[in-house]
Amino acid sequence: MTITAVVGAQFGDEAKGKIVDYLSSDAEYVVRYQGGPNAGHTIRPAGRTLALHQLPVGIVREGCTAVCGAGMVVDPFELVKEIRTLRDEGLFHGKLLLSERAHLILPWHRIQDAWEEETRGSEAGGTTGRGIGPAYMDRAGRWGIRVAELFRPEILRKRLQLLRRTKGFLEGRVGAPTLEQVESDLLAVAAELQPFVAATEPLLWRAVEEGRNVLLEGAQSALLDVDYGTYPFVTSSHPTAAGAALGSGLPPQAIEEVLGISKAYSTRVGAGPFPTEALGADGDRLRERGGERGATTGRPRRCGWLDLVLLRFVVRLNGLTALALTKVDVLGGEAQVPVAVGYRTVSGKTVTESPPTLAEDLARVEPLWRFLPGWEEFTPAVKERLADEGYRALPRELRRFVEFVSEETGVPVALVSYGPSREETVVVPPGARSRPRGMAPWASPLP
Ligand code: IMP
Repeated sequence: MTITAVVGAQFGDEAKGKIVDYLSSDAEYVVRYQGGPNAGHTIRPAGRTLALHQLPVGIVREGCTAVCGAGMVVDPFELVKEIRTLRDEGLFHGKLLLSERAHLILPWHRIQDAWEEETRGSEAGGTTGRGIGPAYMDRAGRWGIRVAELFRPEILRKRLQLLRRTKGFLEGRVGAPTLEQVESDLLAVAAELQPFVAATEPLLWRAVEEGRNVLLEGAQSALLDVDYGTYPFVTSSHPTAAGAALGSGLPPQAIEEVLGISKAYSTRVGAGPFPTEALGADGDRLRERGGERGATTGRPRRCGWLDLVLLRFVVRLNGLTALALTKVDVLGGEAQVPVAVGYRTVSGKTVTESPPTLAEDLARVEPLWRFLPGWEEFTPAVKERLADEGYRALPRELRRFVEFVSEETGVPVALVSYGPSREETVVVPPGARSRPRGMAPWASPLP
């Protein structure tokens, strides 16, 4: 058995959905531990393309229990829509459980999200507009409403009345739902959600005691963590290994493996510093070839090259035990692949693993580049060879790239993904995983 946390190792959109889907064939529990409908996890079960926003990826697997953990902020109206769609598609195969402790995103939070972005003006963070920040604010401010309250109408009303008092920006706003409307809509949706609601934490403790395979599925990424990301250009939750413990209710020492997911290049949606961003033709080519548009908002993603300074930071922050490198096919045909191995900061210092704390300073670093030889295009013939022979059929230059990333981060690369389907994944055999150089003494390969 293993308890594995999967975390985004960049700015989100690293193809975590695909990797969790791939790993979930062995998982008995898949637990989403933070975030809400800001995520868009694209998977391709049975040749179909599906974007899951709140439901854990394990929901499409027979025999898998998919848990929405206490660390999430759940939009109940969007959740029932997602459940219905999945049922209509005949893909609701797993068992769904929703933690009583998860907080709710209400229609007021979405309005507040838009109002906050307007208020920030040119400093807007480019949120997904799903009400994430305001719902987490109310959680921290102790105004929030949780799943459990949906089933206690008198407590729900009292909490809604209090919460409404904090929403002065709604005054005079045409179309904003009244307290009575919100209350009756919530009670209606509660009936539909009720079969899934549970105290999920004791179930997960038992699963660990029984030696079950548990996957903790992160959304967004460590660099968007509210404490350790590029603040204030971050999301409002903890998409880190520590957040996996907090948001699932499992104790930290229960987590045995922490798998970081990184693309072979980088992308970012929304505002904020992005030291290795490629503007112009290079960025356009990556966007085009990688199909880099947001799964939730459809926004074009900013594109650039792999940043080892940020990746080393993420390794340390999460105690990554392994990496999965995704979308390596997108770089197929590039003559050379730039990788940032360090930064020169505005004060002239060279840094390799601790990015500047202030977003303003990170935006002004000068990347120090290494240029690695590119690899061939992933033609159907190359893909066929890979399907038959696995890792050793990867182009030689790509294997060198994989070893380089591993040596530079101190963490073995365990998986390489070269396409969106489950099958387009290569397991790096333990014998071929590069020995870490000792930066991360805790690093150990996945079994
Ligand atoms: P929020 O999470 O909607 O509050 O947005 C805060 C920041 O996180 C914005 O820059 C978003 O673009 C970014 N963000 C939120 N969710 C995702 C995601 O799933 N992938 C990538 N970026 C995200």
